[in-house]
Amino acid sequence: MVLSAAVTDIFSDQLAAWRAYTETPWGRIRYQVVEETLRRETARLGPGLRILDVGGGDGMDAVPLAVRGHDVTILDQSARWLEEARQRAATANTRVRTVLGDLSEPPPLGEFDIVLCHFVLQYRPAAALDVARLADYTRSGGVASVMLPNPAAGVLRQLILAGPRAALDDLDSEITNAVTFGHPVRKIPAVELDATLGQAGMPVVRRYATRIANDLLATNDLKYDSVYFNDLLALELALCDQEPFVRIGGMYQLICSKT
Ligand SMILES: C[S@@+](CC[C@H](N)C(=O)[O-])C[C@H]1O[C@@H](n2cnc3c(N)ncnc32)[C@H](O)[C@@H]1O
Repeated sequence: MVLSAAVTDIFSDQLAAWRAYTETPWGRIRYQVVEETLRRETARLGPGLRILDVGGGDGMDAVPLAVRGHDVTILDQSARWLEEARQRAATANTRVRTVLGDLSEPPPLGEFDIVLCHFVLQYRPAAALDVARLADYTRSGGVASVMLPNPAAGVLRQLILAGPRAALDDLDSEITNAVTFGHPVRKIPAVELDATLGQAGMPVVRRYATRIANDLLATNDLKYDSVYFNDLLALELALCDQEPFVRIGGMYQLICSKT
């Protein structure tokens, strides 16, 4: 499948829609669960880590890491998103280093203890080269965290929202729609990424998921109730590292270790 060259331009255009998404209950669940999984991953490696967030955008994952004292760099191809990240860091009384650049021509930034690449690869033409670039940025013994929408969960979500015909159509399709950006993106099953990471010398050592419970709920109204939301978030946190739930979360997170 060929994704248009203009695919990355949609990010700057859709910044307002993205902000709105991050404030929804399901957006808050995504970021709060990942803040917890990254807290666990950083705790394994120690304080004062060098962290690179590739396609880190407006810093939603990166800024909480900087607040905890890590040395955080965001590499992104959108100047507007990077400006947003710097503002977010300033509001949180911290700072992040921002680098305007494209993963297709990765700038020399050295090696990092942790490399994040969350919700970028599905917009890119093929995963293998990008994964090799992530490996180049990761020091030996360091880890990378890669997150993507889970195509398997997408089938179940279609079933819940639109019925078995829609689920069958989704199962057969190689692409899906990025809801916030209204743009077709590549489906990358966890098993495929797992193999690609292994081939790049970064075997998967842990897996997490988020929006496991959220995406099984057909209606959203109750999620705006604070008591209900807190229970839902507590459930997501309880399930985020548990088999078999990690296989059906709306978004999967693979942690791989550079050998
Ligand atoms: C869906 S957003 C995800 C932002 C962030 N990682 C998160 O999960 O909140 C995708 C981000 O990847 C960036 N991006 C897309 N293609 C890129 C490329 N080729 N090089 C660098 N950044 C890219 C976009 O500008 C955008 O900030």
